[in-house]
Amino acid sequence: MAHSIGSAHSTHGASIPTGQQRVTAILVTGAGGEMGHGLLSALDEQRKTRELCVGEGAGVGPTIIAVDIRELPDEVRQHCDHAYVGDICDHALLERLLAMYEIAEIYHLAALLSTRSEFAPETAHHVNVGGTVNLLHLAAEQARSHGRTVKVFFPSSIAVYGLPDLATKLRAGKVCEEQWCEPHTMYGCNKLAGEHLGRYYDHHYRKLAKDRIDHPIDFRSIRFPGIISAETLPSGGTSDYGPEMIHAAAAGRAYRCFVRPDARIPFMTMPEAIEATLELMAAPKESVKRSVYNVASFAPSADDFARLVRGAFPHAQIEFEPDLGRQAIVDSWPTDCDDTAARRDWGWTPTHTVASAFSDYLLPRISARYPQSTAH
Ligand code: SER
Repeated sequence: MAHSIGSAHSTHGASIPTGQQRVTAILVTGAGGEMGHGLLSALDEQRKTRELCVGEGAGVGPTIIAVDIRELPDEVRQHCDHAYVGDICDHALLERLLAMYEIAEIYHLAALLSTRSEFAPETAHHVNVGGTVNLLHLAAEQARSHGRTVKVFFPSSIAVYGLPDLATKLRAGKVCEEQWCEPHTMYGCNKLAGEHLGRYYDHHYRKLAKDRIDHPIDFRSIRFPGIISAETLPSGGTSDYGPEMIHAAAAGRAYRCFVRPDARIPFMTMPEAIEATLELMAAPKESVKRSVYNVASFAPSADDFARLVRGAFPHAQIEFEPDLGRQAIVDSWPTDCDDTAARRDWGWTPTHTVASAFSDYLLPRISARYPQSTAH
């Protein structure tokens, strides 16, 4: 069971914070979301071998603590030592975490996605930007209190790009990090703001203060494309037509695709997204030349998706019924991203083509999840 701040419950033999001595920890926010599922199990696996720990956690790797607005499902909960139900906008919660843990790394996944954010833009700003500032402040104060830089990972998005119209998008092709950063969505604006705030806290925080410390945080960010997971479905995103189409076919449900068949944006599988995150976080400081990187894997059209899904699930019922608003958002995102910098600086290479993503990852895993599915 998750607990409120102050109570203590432990798995993996990790130390329970007592208030006397702080435990070295990795903090994951939004841990119950799509990415949290994959990241927590990868961090749990990785900590068995890595040397981050100092203090009480020694021998079992760093303590992993999770924060989410809801109780974590058991399959996620089992990968962390302490799980807190709370809001990243709640200063009191973050203060208590600061008091209990010596946080060495933060993976700040909590956010409202792009479609949901358009229905409540000010709430999205409050959560997506306000929550990010709170976390960055927490990280900087942690660094001040324990005298070591805190590493912060921030998942940004292709939503930071905003191409003015479809013709320009098609002409632009692959975009690199500096191009077309004029987002059309609140979520994109929030992610771009998060990138800049991370850079500020890393390089310029409290510029005029006499007692300032250099680089309180080491901020690293990836602009993710649409992410497809075999295990979970996203909620509230605009790239969701990709994963929704596949999960619907596997579950034997008809699917109405909310974009045109020719709609094209980049995607990657969840394991690739997790791998990119861990690789960037593990890269030596001197090779990380920028705070934000594109990563790319494959960039199918919605129709390419539909053909692969129909090939795998002969009974799949897919119709295209574009929603003009959501289509316009997809039309403002690039067809693909230039990931030269990530390849050069920290060795990023995608695992999959769209065909191998289906044959080697999605179909085997999804068929296991929906036993009634008729994939072949
Ligand atoms: N997948 C996200 C969304 O659609 C974009 O990062 O909101």
